[in-house]
Amino acid sequence: MKITVVGTGYVGLVSGVCFSEFGFNVTCVDNNEQKIKNLQNKQLPIYEEGLEKLLIKNMQAGRLSFTSDLAESVKEADIVFIAVGTPAKNDGSADLSYVYAAVDQLASTINRDAVLVIKSTVPVGTTRAVKNHLHEKGVDISVAFNPEFLREGAAVDDFMSPDRVILGVENKKAKDMLRAVYRPLYAFNTPIVFTGLETAELSKYASNAFLAVKIGFINEIADLCEVCGADVKEVAIAMGLDKRIGDKFLQAGPGYGGSCFPKDTLALSFFAKKFGANMTIVDKTVESNNFRRKKMIKKIFDACDNNIKGKKISIFGVTFKANTDDMRESPSIEIVNALINAGADISIYDPSFSEQAKTIFKSANWSNDVYDNCNNADAIVIITDWPEFRAVNLSEIRKRVKYPLIIDLRNLYKVSEVEAHGFKYCSVGRAYKK
Ligand code: UGA
Repeated sequence: MKITVVGTGYVGLVSGVCFSEFGFNVTCVDNNEQKIKNLQNKQLPIYEEGLEKLLIKNMQAGRLSFTSDLAESVKEADIVFIAVGTPAKNDGSADLSYVYAAVDQLASTINRDAVLVIKSTVPVGTTRAVKNHLHEKGVDISVAFNPEFLREGAAVDDFMSPDRVILGVENKKAKDMLRAVYRPLYAFNTPIVFTGLETAELSKYASNAFLAVKIGFINEIADLCEVCGADVKEVAIAMGLDKRIGDKFLQAGPGYGGSCFPKDTLALSFFAKKFGANMTIVDKTVESNNFRRKKMIKKIFDACDNNIKGKKISIFGVTFKANTDDMRESPSIEIVNALINAGADISIYDPSFSEQAKTIFKSANWSNDVYDNCNNADAIVIITDWPEFRAVNLSEIRKRVKYPLIIDLRNLYKVSEVEAHGFKYCSVGRAYKK
C-alpha cells in the first residue's frame, strides 16, 4: 500500500511517520521546499517526543520519503491524506484555502482508484464539498474523513495507541482501504468506528469543544473555591472518581491555549450558526477562557500588591502546555506582556527554549536553568506545567529569591509544602494566606 500525506505540520508529519512505522510506503509532501530539504536531511521542523527516532528508522528502511512535488506524489498512491492547516479567519471561521489549494494541485494527476482522505479539521460538509468540487473538474474518486486526536507532546503515543479511530466514509471501497490502513491497531483492540462523512467531521469539533468546556468549567469552579474555602484539586478528584465524569481535563489553570481548542471552538460556533444551531455553551466557554487570562493577570497584580514596576519577576514556562515549544495562543502571551507593560523586569526559563517565545517576549531575559532564573526575584510566576518544575528544590529557590512569593497558575505543589519552605504561595482555586 502506498500512502501520500499532504502537509508536514505536526498532524501530517506525525501521521506520515507513524504510517511508515506500520510498514506502509509513505511519501510526505509540503510546498515549503526548505522544510522538505531539512526533512530529507532528517531535520524535524517541530519537537515531538519519539518522532525523530521513528523518522530516521523508517527513512533508513526506505519506507518514508519527502518531496515538494505534490502532483507527482499522488500518481501512484493508493490513499492520499490531506493534513494541511485550517487556521481561524478573523470572523472565527476555518480557512479552507490550503485544503482546496492541495485538492486543486492533485486533481489532474491523482490515481483515480485512490481514496482521498481529509485529515485536516474541517467544518461539517467540507469533505462532501471537496468531492463535488473534484467532480466538477471531471475527477470522480472516493473521499473519506479521518479526524486526528493527537495531543502535542504525546502525538506519537496518541497515534500508535489511540482511544479510538473515527472513519467517515460513504462507500465500501473507502471503508476497506481505511480498514487496511489501520489494521495494525486491531492488534491492540483499538475501537475503529465507521460513520458517515458529516458525523466524523462533527465528532472532531464536538470532542475538542467538550474538552474545552470541561476546562472552562473547572476554572470557574476554581474561582468559586477561592471565595468559599474549598480546594479545587480535591473537588476535581471527587468529581473525577465518578466514571461518568472522568478525571481528565479537570486541572484548573490559566485557561486553554494551543493551535486547536481556541480555533476549533470558534469554528464550531461559526458553522453551527450557518446551520441555524446555536452553540451557547461553547460560546460562553470561549468568553470565559478569554476572561481567564485577565483574571490571572489580576491575581498576579493582587499578590504583588499592585506594585509591579521595577520588580524582578521570574517566569516558569511560557509554552501553551508542557512538552512542546509551541507558543500558539499560549496564555503566557497576554500575562507576561501585561507584566512587561507594567514595568516588570521579566526573566524566563522554559525547558523547551522555544525560539517562537524569544521573538514574542523580546525585552525579557532568558535563563538556561530554573534556579538561575530565580536569582534576586521579587516573585515567581508558574505558567506552564512542565514536569521538571514539580521536582524543583524549593530550599534552593528560597535561598536565591529576594522575596519569597510563588504565584502558581498550575497548582503544581501542595500548599503546606511550599509554605513550609517559607514562601507565600498563591495558587489557583485554593485558599491564599497573604
Ligand atoms: C488537543 C486535543 O487534546 C487533541 O485530542 C486534539 O487532537 C488536538 O487538540 C487537535 O485538535 O489537534 P492539544 O491542543 O495538543 O490537543 O493540547 P491539550 O493537551 O488538549 O491541551 C490544550 C490546552 O488545555 C492546553 O493549554 C492545556 O494546558 C489546557 N488544559 C488541559 C488545562 O488547562 N487543563 C486540563 O485539565 C487539560
